Amino acid sequence: MPNITIDRYAVMGNPITHSKSPQIHQQFAAQTRQQLSYEKIQVETDDFSDAVARFQQNNGKGLNITVPLKEHAFKIANQLTERARRAGAVNTLILNATNNYTGDNTDGIGLVRDLMQNHDTELANKDILILGAGGAVRGILEPFIQQRPDRLLIANRTLQRAEDLAEDFSDIFHIETSEYTALEGLQFDIIINGTSASLSGDLPPLPEKLLKNTSTAYDMMYGKEDTPFMLWAKQNNATKILDGLGMLVEQAAESFYCWRHIRPDTKPVITSIRRNM
Ligand code: ATR
Repeated sequence: MPNITIDRYAVMGNPITHSKSPQIHQQFAAQTRQQLSYEKIQVETDDFSDAVARFQQNNGKGLNITVPLKEHAFKIANQLTERARRAGAVNTLILNATNNYTGDNTDGIGLVRDLMQNHDTELANKDILILGAGGAVRGILEPFIQQRPDRLLIANRTLQRAEDLAEDFSDIFHIETSEYTALEGLQFDIIINGTSASLSGDLPPLPEKLLKNTSTAYDMMYGKEDTPFMLWAKQNNATKILDGLGMLVEQAAESFYCWRHIRPDTKPVITSIRRNM
């Protein structure tokens, strides 16, 4: 039974066994000398709003929300940040008082910080290609647009989904859309793989010469081995080839900041999580 006299935090999802969030947040807490506990809780979708209320009543101060509950968290939040509203999903809940929750989404800013601060990759004035048009991509678009890239193109197997996304953001940015075959002849500074293709060992059908001389290739997935997209980037001479582990730690750091108003140092945590993978 957790100690309920100290501030409690947790990640809720299903399945949750392999979540690295407890390891990450426990390291943040130790580093910043914050007294708190952080657990992982498996929650059935039907029980989600009750589970959040129970947690809040037992000294729960904040939650991370993961698959498949992010859209549900979006629905139960009483207030939403702009980036969560745009994402249509919540990965961070701030539990203010009984049944009063603020929903935020730190995934996009996590990716932006990993690129800009950890890998010296500016996004302003760059030509950026994003592969995929699902929930993961929707979640990162607002913070990307904030950086004012020159060009943002979403390519997806199902073109309509890319077009729907572009339409939803059309009031703040002109996002271009394409099928994979129509990318022939185009070149980009940064390519982000936001598809779930890597999960099944697949790669979207990408033409050759998509990368400029100095290009960054980023897979939002991560694992012990290089993903098929990272292998493709190697074959195509990308200058920087990155996986999503840094994004995972950076989104966690932003959640930690939302709850505790203190910013942990992410570098040693990224190193330690990578070492233990
Ligand atoms: P998530 O929440 O991870 O974004 P999602 O909403 O199901 O999950 O979206 C998955 C994304 O990966 C979609 O862009 C999907 O393309 P479609 O919209 O055409 O389905 C993409 N995807 C998954 N498997 C893929 C594959 N083998 N090749 C190319 N794209 C793939």
